[in-house]
Amino acid sequence: LENGLARKPPMGWMSWAAFYCETDCDQHPRSCISELLYGDMADRLASEGYREAGYVGVHVDDCWMERQRDRSGALVPDRTRFPSGLKSLADYIHDKGLKFGLYEDYGTKTCEGYPGSYGHLKIDAQSFANWTVDYLKLDGCNIDVNLMEKGFPEMQVELNATGRQIVYSCVWPLYLLPKHSEKIDYKYIGDHCNLWRNFDDVKSSWDSITSIIDYYDRNQEKHIPTHGPGRWHDPDMLVIGNENIDVNMATAQMTIWSIWSAPLMISTDLRTIKPEFKKILLNKDVIAVDQDKMGIMGRMIANSSNVFIYLKPISPTADLRSSFAFALLNRNTTHPFSAEFDLESVGLEDAGGYKVTNLWSGEEHGRLLPSDTINMTIPASGAVMFRAVLVDLKPKHHKIDRFLK
Ligand code: DGJ
Repeated sequence: LENGLARKPPMGWMSWAAFYCETDCDQHPRSCISELLYGDMADRLASEGYREAGYVGVHVDDCWMERQRDRSGALVPDRTRFPSGLKSLADYIHDKGLKFGLYEDYGTKTCEGYPGSYGHLKIDAQSFANWTVDYLKLDGCNIDVNLMEKGFPEMQVELNATGRQIVYSCVWPLYLLPKHSEKIDYKYIGDHCNLWRNFDDVKSSWDSITSIIDYYDRNQEKHIPTHGPGRWHDPDMLVIGNENIDVNMATAQMTIWSIWSAPLMISTDLRTIKPEFKKILLNKDVIAVDQDKMGIMGRMIANSSNVFIYLKPISPTADLRSSFAFALLNRNTTHPFSAEFDLESVGLEDAGGYKVTNLWSGEEHGRLLPSDTINMTIPASGAVMFRAVLVDLKPKHHKIDRFLK
C-alpha cells in the first residue's frame, strides 16, 4: 500500500502468541490482556535496548473490548482491564518513543467473539484515529470470504479518511486457504494493505516454525515479486523466548524471518525473557539484514536432504550487482550438520570477491573469492547466517565517472 508507511518491515511486540486471550486478571494479574501488560511491555521495549534496535510497536491483539458497543455504536475497551482507556494507553506508549498498534476484525465478531467492524468501518476507523492508533491489524474471522476483496480495501479508505497515518495489516489471504487459494492476488492485496498474513498462526513449537517455512518455500515464486517497501508478506510473530523454543530454533526463526525481510514482532514476556534469547532478538547485524532498504525477500536456492540454503540480495550494490546475506538451515532435529562450502555454491559469483562475516558468531572471514571455502557446523534445528559484502564497489562505468567530474 503506497501510503508512505511501512517502508521497512514493521518491528515491535505483539501479545497474541504469548498471552492469547487471557482475560482473567484475578487469577492472572500479570498476564491478562490489560493496560498493565502493554504498559509493562512498553517499559521494557524502551529501557532494555529493544526500541533502539528497532522494535518500536506495542501491539494489542484480540480480547481488549467490551462485549457490546456503546449507545453511539462505538467500540469500548474493557472497563476493568483498560480502566484508563486507550487514548491514555497510547499516550503512555507514545511518551516512550514507541508506536501504538491495535487489533480488530472485519467480520461480525473477532475470532474470540468480541464485536467486529462489519457494518461499522467508518465509526471504528474514527475511534482508532481518536485513540491515536499508529497500526491496525484487521483480522478476518466470522465473515464470508467473498466479501473480503471489497471489505479490506474499504477499511483502508476509512482509515485514510481520518487523516491519521495508520499502518494497515490485513489478516486476509490466510482465510482463503485452502479452498479459495486461487483467489489470492498479492498484487491487489498489496495495493490495499501494508502487510498481510497468508498462513496459519505461529505457535511456540519447531513444527509450527517449519510449517511456515515450508509454506513460504513452496510459494516463494508468488511471494518474492509481490514483497517490498510498503507491502509485506507477514509470516507471523517471533516466538523466541517462549517455552519449547531452544536457542538453536530461535536462531533459525530469526535468521529465516530476516532473510525474508519479514515483519519482526516479538511475542514473549519481556519481563522474564532469558538473556540468551534477548541477545538473539537484539542482534544488530541480523536486524540490519531484515531491515535492508531494498526490502527484498530472500529465496531458498537449494536443498539437499535436511539442509536448506537461502540467499538474499542486500545493499550496498554497484552496477546491478549486490551484496548478499545467506543462510543455511538444518531441518534435522537430532543431528548437527558440518560441511565445507565454497561461495559459488551458495550463489556468490562476483569475481571481485566478498567480505564475509558470520552474523551469529561475529567471526570475520575477510575477503573471500567465489572459489574460497568456509567450514561450518549447523546445529540440529538451527541455522547459520552470513553477510557477504561486495569488495569491488566501484562503479564499472569509469567513463561516465570521469565525465561527471
Ligand atoms: C487469528 C490471527 O491470525 C491471530 O494472529 C490472532 O490475531 C487471533 N486471530 C486473535 O483472535
